Amino acid sequence: MSRVVYYAAMSLDGYIAEDDDTLDWLNSYDGSYEGNGAPPVEGGYDEFYESVGAIVMGSVTYEWVLGYMKSTGRSWMYPGMPSWILSSRDLPVPEGADVRIVDASAAEIHDGMVAAAAGKNVWVVGGGNVASQFADAALLDEVRATVVPVVLGQGKPLFDRRIDGGPMQLTGVYPRKNGMVELTYRLES
Ligand SMILES: NC(=O)c1ccc[n+]([C@@H]2O[C@H](COP(=O)([O-])OP(=O)(O)OC[C@H]3O[C@@H](n4cnc5c(N)ncnc54)[C@H](OP(=O)(O)O)[C@@H]3O)[C@@H](O)[C@H]2O)c1
Repeated sequence: MSRVVYYAAMSLDGYIAEDDDTLDWLNSYDGSYEGNGAPPVEGGYDEFYESVGAIVMGSVTYEWVLGYMKSTGRSWMYPGMPSWILSSRDLPVPEGADVRIVDASAAEIHDGMVAAAAGKNVWVVGGGNVASQFADAALLDEVRATVVPVVLGQGKPLFDRRIDGGPMQLTGVYPRKNGMVELTYRLES
């Protein structure tokens, strides 16, 4: 059965981006972990991406991706992946990308995303506001936060509001060779 999963990297103090949307703290992070106590666990983004059948993101994240494509000359990062972009504006769509720009609530797009995912999971890419909308609607099943040991002091948070409901249940702890730790939590709904 498809799950709706918020998968994101966050600083040790809980931010997914700086206030100006830069991600240098993440992209330039170069740490290591020797495995004292708990051995490093293989896996990470590629393994996660294999489990995904549809994605959703807010327009700020989408425009960051478009800017990244332009500055690096790269093509759309999610080829063939059914992608929902939340926005009240008309935004460009890269050639060949399976992207729909929608002005809609989490509840309105949920069933279509699950159908498109065809048994795989739906990835809530971010930002924290979009993830909070899914949590508010009780449509978020899992949080996978990769902690990057960097302290930013301020920025855009993993969630932008209090999330009510039952306690999240820890379902996994995955220390990586690069010093990041992926924490997975199941939400009660
Ligand atoms: N560290 C990580 O793993 C990670 C993951 C994801 C994102 N990020 C970064 O985090 C930052 C995210 O920024 P953010 O949280 O400010 O923005 P965001 O969630 O990407 O986008 C927010 C915008 O999306 C539109 N939107 C949101 N919900 C909507 C709805 N239900 N219907 C219609 N439009 C809706 C609105 O803009 P308009 O209507 O004006 O278009 C809103 O201002 C970016 O810098 C991104 O690169 C980091």
